[in-house]
Amino acid sequence: MERRALVSSMIVVLASFIIIQVYGENSWPVARFSGGRYHDQMQKMEAYKASLLRRDLISLSPSPISPSSSFAPSPLPLPSPSPSPSPSQSVTPSPRVYHVTSYGADPSGQTDSTEALLAAMSDALNGPSNGFLMEGIVNLGGAQVNLEGGTYIINRPLRFPVASRGNLMIHGGTLKASNNFPTEGYLLDLSATNGSDEYNYEYVSFRDLMLDSNYKGGGIQIINSLRISIDNCYIVHFTTNGILVQGGHETYIRNSFLGQHITAGGDLGERNFFGTAINLMGNDNSVTDVVIFSAAIGIMVSGQANTFSGVHCYNKATNFGGIGIYLKLQGLTQTRIVNSYLDYTGIVAEDPVQLHISSNFFLGDAYILLKSINGVVNGVNIVDNMFYGSYKGVEIVQLDQTNGAFKKVDQVVIDRNNARGMEVKATVARGTVQGNGSSWTIDLNSILLFPDLIKHILYTLSTNRGSFPRHSLRNVSMNRVLIESDVAVPATVFVVADQGKSHLS
Ligand SMILES: *[C@@H]1O[C@H](CO)[C@@H](O)[C@H](O)[C@H]1NC(C)=O
Ligand SMILES: *[C@@H]1O[C@H](CO)[C@@H](O)[C@H](O)[C@H]1NC(C)=O
Ligand SMILES: *[C@@H]1O[C@H](CO)[C@@H](O)[C@H](O)[C@H]1NC(C)=O
Repeated sequence: MERRALVSSMIVVLASFIIIQVYGENSWPVARFSGGRYHDQMQKMEAYKASLLRRDLISLSPSPISPSSSFAPSPLPLPSPSPSPSPSQSVTPSPRVYHVTSYGADPSGQTDSTEALLAAMSDALNGPSNGFLMEGIVNLGGAQVNLEGGTYIINRPLRFPVASRGNLMIHGGTLKASNNFPTEGYLLDLSATNGSDEYNYEYVSFRDLMLDSNYKGGGIQIINSLRISIDNCYIVHFTTNGILVQGGHETYIRNSFLGQHITAGGDLGERNFFGTAINLMGNDNSVTDVVIFSAAIGIMVSGQANTFSGVHCYNKATNFGGIGIYLKLQGLTQTRIVNSYLDYTGIVAEDPVQLHISSNFFLGDAYILLKSINGVVNGVNIVDNMFYGSYKGVEIVQLDQTNGAFKKVDQVVIDRNNARGMEVKATVARGTVQGNGSSWTIDLNSILLFPDLIKHILYTLSTNRGSFPRHSLRNVSMNRVLIESDVAVPATVFVVADQGKSHLS
């Protein structure tokens, strides 16, 4: 479990975060994704509410209208404005598995296979089709480009030569960038933009692939596409992004391994790791059961409504300036991070609004940093996580207020986390003080996350000395709770204070 010893002090940690801030201040404007399902749904929500009654009536009618499906067995021959070839009427009964060695690709990795692979892809993309998926996206019916277990050297990106296609799989082998591969390129590139429709590709699957960028550029680039699946891939030696998703929605990344260097922790070069393993500049994506074993940033997120589960980040330790998951989207975050393993590297969230972090394991002083940009934190749950550290006093949740204090704090619940060798911070604190006198002060600063913020308080004054003193809450300033009584008594005072919940006022 212990991968390596902790190295340097928290001063280094904070300095590292400051360096990382220069990464870029602008998040993607919301309008960037205006075509996506997410925003459609946001807009439709109100209309939906109003239509509930109507839907009830439909479902009670004798001939219910079944929901249309993209995968209906016989798709309607929709009229399409797309210049794409219309679905073939003369389908030959040959299999649609395109074996790349048949195109002259060299599975031994000795000679360049770029042209052969592109030819196989081109044939697959122009092959027999069966109607459409989304409007204008030609359904290739599950055609496969089979790498036949070979390793292929390529000297430029395998950019899909034809757009507006779907239901295709590329699988079963290794792609490796040559030494003259362009440093801004991606081995597999779904960026063709000459499609006539909203989405470039739909339901393209990359399975059982090793992608070796050879320290030249990135692994997979997915632009304005829908329902792309990356499954059981091993993506290494990238210098930009292992996977970049921009626009579109529903890219699902599963059961995969990503690292800039092939290492298993405790790498002597760790402080020099750079690059980002997964960069999500779009909404509604999912990353599940993925290991990120080297990169400066494990997952960079600048689109909304993404979800992460079963992610193990040990990409670069916080002490070296690494970040496990970086939520760089202020204002409307809408991210869930659950059941993940943050291993010596933590989570950074800028002005989080609607963020859920639960049931995760943080090892090696890894912590969650809330970074103020405009001082907003709203609708944040950080609950039921466990933390394990080196007994150096590192707090499990921290604030970066170098850009200004968090001023708008609401609906924040940081509670029920447990820690060994780290300091618990929370938005709910309980305290007890005993004394003989007429005033009792309980200082909750060691627990409460936000300075000088108590929104709600309950206290009990307990005394068994026969008298019934009058007592009152006098002051909660600076997270110090002051209770006073009219006469001196020996008493115990119990306090519960809450910083983050909305209450009726
Ligand atoms: C897109 O461009 C490629 C060549 O760059 C061409 O072969 C293909 O037919 C084009 N597709 C469309 C839909 O125009
Ligand atoms: C509390 O203080 C008063 C006066 O200072 C003293 O008379 C009394 O014995 C003290 N009671 C206890 C329980 O210490
Ligand atoms: C509450 O305590 C603070 C210091 O902690 C003090 O500055 C302030 O005046 C106090 N408020 C009242 C109403 O006594």
